[in-house]
Amino acid sequence: MGSASLDTIGYWSEIKLAIVREYAQAYSRILTSNRLYHVYIDAFAGAGVHISRKSGEFVPGSPLNALWIQPPFREYYLIDMDSGKAEQLRQLASAHSKAHILEGDCNDVLLARVFPNVQYAQYRRGLCLLDPYGLHLDWRVISTAARMESIEVFLNFPLADMNRNVLWHDPKSVDPAQAGRMRTFWGDDTWKQAAYDTRGNLFGWEEKQPNQAVALAFAERLKKVAGFKHVPEPMPMRNTKGAIVYYLFFASPKAVAAGIVEDIFQKYRDRGRI
Ligand SMILES: C[S@@+](CC[C@H](N)C(=O)[O-])C[C@H]1O[C@@H](n2cnc3c(N)ncnc32)[C@H](O)[C@@H]1O
Repeated sequence: MGSASLDTIGYWSEIKLAIVREYAQAYSRILTSNRLYHVYIDAFAGAGVHISRKSGEFVPGSPLNALWIQPPFREYYLIDMDSGKAEQLRQLASAHSKAHILEGDCNDVLLARVFPNVQYAQYRRGLCLLDPYGLHLDWRVISTAARMESIEVFLNFPLADMNRNVLWHDPKSVDPAQAGRMRTFWGDDTWKQAAYDTRGNLFGWEEKQPNQAVALAFAERLKKVAGFKHVPEPMPMRNTKGAIVYYLFFASPKAVAAGIVEDIFQKYRDRGRI
């Protein structure tokens, strides 16, 4: 396999991979014993292998981890819009007849070709990883997954992209196209109320709120607007300097699922600081 399109990943990505793998393992065991038809969905799948910044070694990516889980998922939907990465995934998954490699924008592919195969009434269930680099996820995907009640999601809340391009101290100087990307992710413009407060001063100036306030507002939105019944407190993913790079969210219709993820988050919470 060539390494032309392999990504070098930071320590926090290795923590994320461990968290998702651990939950996917528990999920596959429980769903198999309940005789449900469970599928794994990786929407921003990547090439399947990365290079660790820390050790310089190959690290299996989230789709490869899922393909190795025993008992296996019944099907795997692995999506990437980069043709080089999709091709590497195809090679890695060639021995798995139940793995579908789909090339394209996952926001369209999920809604048109993947979620329709995970109907609750057909006893199908799905674990879906939504792991973009930045603001590339469309709220319609999140709200559709919640409405179906058959799908649980891990979701990367891309704080670095938000801070770089949208959540500025002076919101009036933000490029409208960047604000538009935020609206697509959030589903409407209520992110502005979460990110800015005018009550702290006499002049009605918009004062930027801490990142954590924006993340917690999104957790509320996953529950109250999308309709996921259980959303554990998101896990801050930190770089080696301790700065939060993004939040890892989990959302599920099942209390037991959220309980398992809370335990896993707790286990890894302090390992993000090295
Ligand atoms: C952070 S990486 C995924 C890493 C992977 N989840 C892992 O942990 O091994 C994000 C991937 O999303 C892909 N991507 C970006 N925008 C996309 C989109 N709209 N639809 C599908 N894939 C996309 C990129 O090509 C990249 O490979």
